[in-house]
Amino acid sequence: MDDLPLTGHVYVPRLLTDDAMAELGTLDRTLVVGPEEPPSRAELLRGVTGAAAVICTLTERIDAEVLDAAGPQLRVVANTAVGYDNIDVSAASSRGVVVTNTPGVLDRATADLTLGLILAAARRIAEGDRFLRHGTPWTWGPRMMVGLDLSAGATLGIIGLGRIGRAVARRARAFDMRVLATPTRAELDEDERASIEFVDLPALLRRSDVVSLHCPLTPETRHLIDREALRLMKPTALLVNTARGPVVDTDALVAALESGEIGGAALDVYEDEPHVDPRLLAFEQIVLTPHLGSAGDATRSAMCRMSVANAVEVLAGRPPLTPVS
Ligand code: GLV
Repeated sequence: MDDLPLTGHVYVPRLLTDDAMAELGTLDRTLVVGPEEPPSRAELLRGVTGAAAVICTLTERIDAEVLDAAGPQLRVVANTAVGYDNIDVSAASSRGVVVTNTPGVLDRATADLTLGLILAAARRIAEGDRFLRHGTPWTWGPRMMVGLDLSAGATLGIIGLGRIGRAVARRARAFDMRVLATPTRAELDEDERASIEFVDLPALLRRSDVVSLHCPLTPETRHLIDREALRLMKPTALLVNTARGPVVDTDALVAALESGEIGGAALDVYEDEPHVDPRLLAFEQIVLTPHLGSAGDATRSAMCRMSVANAVEVLAGRPPLTPVS
């Protein structure tokens, strides 16, 4: 990036998958590509200066300062993620900059991870793994490490029945779970209408054995799961978050786990990523993963190719494939 400032270049702050990078290499534009790690704020501000397109990930905060640093030739910010809470969309729109995301291609991978987390928490898989690694003496026993049987009538409550929530519901049905969801605007098929019971949030929290979050992070969903919501949950219930960390109030979650107000949790996302609140690490009944929802090989490749394709379309003067609004 020593030759900056450039104009009209494509800025890719973090290295994308090989196939997406190869596609970018065919563009008749100067490319400015960062390493695998996220850029510092200063590097980001420098990299965007003069860019016509920014192909970023969820770790880059694209706000008015970044958009202004880019300059008036910026046409598109293509986010390599379905969630776009890292981007100030109204600041972009007011500057005539298109924002795109990667919907659809990561639903199944995220739903797979969600079921993995549900199973890991319900059947104490991660806890069992730690138990053996610590060299704990053991013999099989009828009361040993007994967990929640998903297929014995356990109820899953899905908050946010969009594309990912629906993919989770399909998988949960294969495990014979009952499925509740908060009302959705999604167009459901006949099977979904027959197999999912729609209830309001308090009823969902009260009745579910597993509560799984699949809503976007918006001002309305920030700390949706707060002290009051956790109090409504069963003392045996598990909370699963593969959406965005700030949907859950971490202080309230820690308090609920400490007091036994809920039974456990499985978290893939955190309030202040990549920082993980050390209090969470102390609980045996929590499973933690480092934001792996979409981390399948085919999925990551599809996401990266989609964000590149969005940028290519806008740079060519065509409509974006998947604009956020
Ligand atoms: C990942 O968290 C995404 O929003 O795609």
